Amino acid sequence: MEDTPVRGLEGVIAADTKICSLDGVNGILGYYGYDVPEMVRKKVTFEEIVYLLWHGELPTRERLKEFDGAMKAERALSPGMLRALKQIPPGEQRTAALRGGVGIQGLFDEEAEDDSPEANRRKALRLTAKMPTIVAAQHRLAEGLKPLNPRRGLGHAANFLYMITGQAPDKIDARALDATLVLYAEHEFNASTFATRVVTSTMSDIYSAVTAGISALKGPLHGGAGLAVMETLREIGDIENVEPFVEAALARKRLFMGFGHRVYTKSGDPRASVLIELAEEVCHQPGRDAKWFDMARALDHAVQSRKGVIPNVDFYSAPLWQGLGIPMELFVPIIAMSRVAGWTANILEQQADNRLIRPRARYTGPDKRPYRTMRSRG
Ligand code: COA
Repeated sequence: MEDTPVRGLEGVIAADTKICSLDGVNGILGYYGYDVPEMVRKKVTFEEIVYLLWHGELPTRERLKEFDGAMKAERALSPGMLRALKQIPPGEQRTAALRGGVGIQGLFDEEAEDDSPEANRRKALRLTAKMPTIVAAQHRLAEGLKPLNPRRGLGHAANFLYMITGQAPDKIDARALDATLVLYAEHEFNASTFATRVVTSTMSDIYSAVTAGISALKGPLHGGAGLAVMETLREIGDIENVEPFVEAALARKRLFMGFGHRVYTKSGDPRASVLIELAEEVCHQPGRDAKWFDMARALDHAVQSRKGVIPNVDFYSAPLWQGLGIPMELFVPIIAMSRVAGWTANILEQQADNRLIRPRARYTGPDKRPYRTMRSRG
């Protein structure tokens, strides 16, 4: 066996999967063989995608109705869960709060330790349905507001926006958020999904695996990039400052957040081009301030032409979500409430053909040496 480590496991094929195909050279992303940007442009819903990720097929109208009903029935949080959420300190660390919230939800789930595939499917549904309610409740509590009950008449994305703002969104906004949930739902062996697989491979439970996923997602090199994009745009402040900012950033070899990708190195991230269209539609609606979107476009052009790195999924989702009135601190939790569909699909696939994930390390520490007692160490 070759004993040179592959830094960052770049290019390493760690397992077979049927869920997601990712062609980094040609910039193509598919869920079970269906092209994701095409599905978004043809207005597939997040609910259909969750079904696809868990069953391998798109639902018929009838199956979707049943599935949607089952998701809606699981949206609400128990009074005990709401009481527990009130104990989490308020603050801007909403991803850490969500990680805690999901952990607590596991403690309220009587099936948490039932490892059967049937129970795990039920838990995947429960978790995916409840995650927006947890995020929204934590947000409102942190803002000193009363959490809102989910509204059955609204779809998954529209209901989330309602639970945040107290108002049902219009069609354009609801569809834009729904589309971003579809785009983020699954992405093969990214760091957070791999983390969920590692935890699952030890035969630990689904809640432990998902909290590991949230922990990995939180980092600015992964899901935290969108938040960093918004921070960058705020730091730049005005479209006229874009060019000087890029100049200074290049001189200091600064990382441009929301650019570059481990897999989409040549043709770019196929999700980003859909997100530009969605962000433009949302931000350029009458009565909206398109400042952040216009600045993002200018920054995109400047960085691409000067550095040659291409925007990834997190770049345009930042001004898009800002345009929808979603506070920055909720960006990572939103990715989590979408990616939970992919995480749980991967957890189910891992469980169906499990082997402990346990790689090796090349030792580069000191050579073997004699132990010295405390007395002889002085
Ligand atoms: N800004 C500036 N330069 C970048 C860059 C960025 N965002 N992304 C990659 N590069 C450059 C690196 O400096 C490096 O150049 P070099 O060979 O001259 O040193 C080259 O491109 C390769 O980058 P590397 O860091 O080895 O790629 P990676 O596969 O390890 O990292 C990311 C991939 C995503 C972590 C990296 O592109 C990044 O940090 N992006 C910003 C964070 C982000 O947007 N994350 C969300 C990902 S969806």
